[in-house]
Amino acid sequence: MSNYAIILAAGKGTRMKSDLPKVLHKVSGITMLEHVFRAVSAIEPTKNVTVIGHKAELVKEVLAGQSQFALQTEQLGTGHAVMMAESELAGLEGQTLVIAGDTPLITGESLKELIDFHVSHKNVATILTATADNPFGYGRIIRNERGEVIKIVEQKDASEFEQQVKEINTGTYVFDNKRLFEALKNINTNNAQGEYYLTDVISIFREAGEKVGAYVLRDFDESLGVNDRLALATAESVMRRRINKAHMINGVTFQNPEATYIEVDVEIEPDVLIEANVTLKGQTKVGSETVLTNGAYLVDAKIGAGAVITNSMIEESEVADGVTVGPYAHIRPGSSLAKDVHIGNFVEVKGSSIGENSKAGHLTYIGNAEVGSNVNFGAGTITVNYDGQHKYKTKIANNAFVGSNSTLIAPLEIGENALTAAGSTITRDVPKDSVAIGRSRQENKDMYALKLPHHPSQK
Ligand code: UD1
Ligand code: CA
Repeated sequence: MSNYAIILAAGKGTRMKSDLPKVLHKVSGITMLEHVFRAVSAIEPTKNVTVIGHKAELVKEVLAGQSQFALQTEQLGTGHAVMMAESELAGLEGQTLVIAGDTPLITGESLKELIDFHVSHKNVATILTATADNPFGYGRIIRNERGEVIKIVEQKDASEFEQQVKEINTGTYVFDNKRLFEALKNINTNNAQGEYYLTDVISIFREAGEKVGAYVLRDFDESLGVNDRLALATAESVMRRRINKAHMINGVTFQNPEATYIEVDVEIEPDVLIEANVTLKGQTKVGSETVLTNGAYLVDAKIGAGAVITNSMIEESEVADGVTVGPYAHIRPGSSLAKDVHIGNFVEVKGSSIGENSKAGHLTYIGNAEVGSNVNFGAGTITVNYDGQHKYKTKIANNAFVGSNSTLIAPLEIGENALTAAGSTITRDVPKDSVAIGRSRQENKDMYALKLPHHPSQK
């Protein structure tokens, strides 16, 4: 029988105190909604409906092309939200997973187990539950003396006795698809919040004598519902531990995993060494035996094997095997550094390709340049690529030697094996094998210092 899924993502998330809809807040680099969607994908739903409402267009963008959408124009409660998906799912045979978009830690494995449990027990409804040390804020699972689930009671509606219950509703359920929409016709707003509660369908099924069950999560962490920034930070730290643990199991060394931030889609090969305070974001990939020291900050960077990135930032760029970067370098988007390139301290590279074994050791700006192999940049070199309106290219051929403090005014080509003298302002192309000197000649005035006030003889 087919699986379907409904993700609830229409709420504002008042307790977040944010302009951004709650489900668009990120955990480890992707929105909570994407985390939920990825977990849901594990059950391979033949139809996936995301209920959107508050700032619907913004929310829709995140899953565009991956999910269908149902609009809930007024947020009248979780039960009302599920009703909005009826036109997409009415009359279909199968089971429907309903999950809240604010539970980013639930895993695909748990959802698969939940579905299997539901199907094998022939339930009409199965609730994913967990045992909480501090259940405050969650709906409580109320069981009868035989241990059967009879209803879910929300925090605000719970009696003092019910508030003692530690088994909580994670906000994830599986229902018989047809029976779900029938039961929803019978819910009302007679409760402390004046909302249509999805949770009320459980007692409706029970009263109709239908089979309701609960599947208890082993790991309470998975059930975390993020309603405020405190829970968001908790979700971050649980996710960080989960991500870093997976990398360690794959053979990556962390000097301080608690102080290392790695986003979900980052890939790291074995024998990479990661010091404390390293940040790896987006689609970053790191090759084996590379060392990332304290302060390495990589965004969408592809780093080869055996590289050393020392306290530097690299964005949307490719760095080949054996490259050394930093300390304090900035590799900006669109750059590629070939094998064994060295980029030293206070060097900025932007939109440039640098060939094998070339070196810029100190205080240099390389922008919109095509640099060959074995090129050496002296300290203080600047490619002058921008006249205030347009960007121009600098091409530097293999084996060229750019003297310290050269100002290379683009568009410009420096030929193979050419040399620019230190302190030159280079405005014309330099042919192959040539030396370019673009600086005024020095003049020495003999003995003239004797007449100047700084001279000891004048004091
Ligand atoms: C809900 C459950 C509670 C459970 C908890 C788990 C109900 C009545 N309560 O409470 O038993 O313990 O989740 O985290 O279901 N939403 C809509 N439209 C609405 C209202 C909510 O789409 O009209 C969405 C929200 O965007 C959110 C999700 O449903 O993603 C849950 O809503 P929320 O208000 O956070 O419910 P809780 O109070 O946490
Ligand atoms: Ca919630």
